[in-house]
Amino acid sequence: MELVNNSYQIQGIDVTEICKEFGTPLYVYDAQKILSQLQGLKNAFSENDVKVKYAAKALTNLSILRLLQKNGSGVDVVSIQEAQLVLLAGFQPANIMFTPNCVAFEEIIQGVELGLNVNLDNLSVLEKFGKKYGGSYPCCIRLNPHIMAGGNYKISTGHGNSKFGISVYQLPQIRQLVDQYKILVNGLHIHTGSEITESDVFIKMAEILFGIAQDFPKLKFIDFGGGFKVAYKEGDLVTNIYDLGLKLGKTFKEFYQSYGRKLELWIEPGKYIVSEAGYLLVNANVVKATPTITFVGVNSGLNHLIRPMMYEAYHEIVNVSNPTGTQKIYTIVGNICETDTLGSDRKLNEVSEGHLLAIKNAGAYGYSMASNYNSRFRPAEVLVINKEAKLIRKQDTFEDLIQGQVEIDI
Ligand code: LLP
Repeated sequence: MELVNNSYQIQGIDVTEICKEFGTPLYVYDAQKILSQLQGLKNAFSENDVKVKYAAKALTNLSILRLLQKNGSGVDVVSIQEAQLVLLAGFQPANIMFTPNCVAFEEIIQGVELGLNVNLDNLSVLEKFGKKYGGSYPCCIRLNPHIMAGGNYKISTGHGNSKFGISVYQLPQIRQLVDQYKILVNGLHIHTGSEITESDVFIKMAEILFGIAQDFPKLKFIDFGGGFKVAYKEGDLVTNIYDLGLKLGKTFKEFYQSYGRKLELWIEPGKYIVSEAGYLLVNANVVKATPTITFVGVNSGLNHLIRPMMYEAYHEIVNVSNPTGTQKIYTIVGNICETDTLGSDRKLNEVSEGHLLAIKNAGAYGYSMASNYNSRFRPAEVLVINKEAKLIRKQDTFEDLIQGQVEIDI
């Protein structure tokens, strides 16, 4: 979204016009930005045979999935339903990485039946897998490197107390199961967390993996997970993917030369691809001045964007209706019966009731974490593609709220 002649635009289309056509609250995504992020990653890792597996959980709208599939991305899924969605969007099973955590073994079997790459992160599951499939179906092993990294504790997954991955200290047990059942391990995987800024963390993970990889002679790929950070506000630290691509690419090459065979380098970015491409457009219902704070109450809330309340995430907010006015301090809140602050003490161009506001970086983990809390509808979604704004999901209806409920005699 850029400010051109006093109007906020996406691909030359006035955001106010988009909202007039589709209403608010509204999620709007910029296809051009999504594709340029994907291309940036391919360029950054071009030294290697890189396979991008977009982390679908960040944003699962079928049109977004199709856009990425058509532009050469693979995909990472975490549930069998997510797998069904991405298959529907046109991804081939061979390009789908299935990384479930704490699921019943039946779900892993379903993944195998769909022909997905399965990634196992528990010794008991590895044993069941070995018993059932032996060496007849390959699997990847997700390791926990005992590294604390990521934007905050809730999104750090590679530390010793995390439920994810098999601890690198349990490598002897992994080896024993692999030998006993002749399990065909074709990949090793690590995802240490979300919003990791330093390339060195990835390099440290890589070195751990490379050491372990020597024990698994049939590898096809090494998957370094996602977690690349984008800017949520001006001056924010971000992952320099070019620096990372260069450094990781170099050590990866050295590794596979000593391994004796060229391997594929997989990455699973979610936020990096879709975060900045998405906006949540909302209207100011009220401006409520108290003796201490001036609130702007909008027609949305934590039911549509939970990140600020869940992770204390910062999402920049701009007043689309008043791009040049004088600034005042506001706290922007939702209309939910909870404390649902979207932004505290923000400098915004003066807000009047009815004004249109844009909440930025809403592409990743925005709609996909939205709910019907307070029996409110989830918003519609619009994709701006080839300079046209297209509806890609309707707003919920009352029928959606009651669908699936079974009325009994009371
Ligand atoms: N691969 C695996 C195995 C993952 O668990 C995740 C994210 C990713 C890739 C993608 O990570 P990304 O590149 O998007 O950082 N809801 C939280 C983020 C949770 C991430 C869960 N796993 C948030 O809104 O910050």
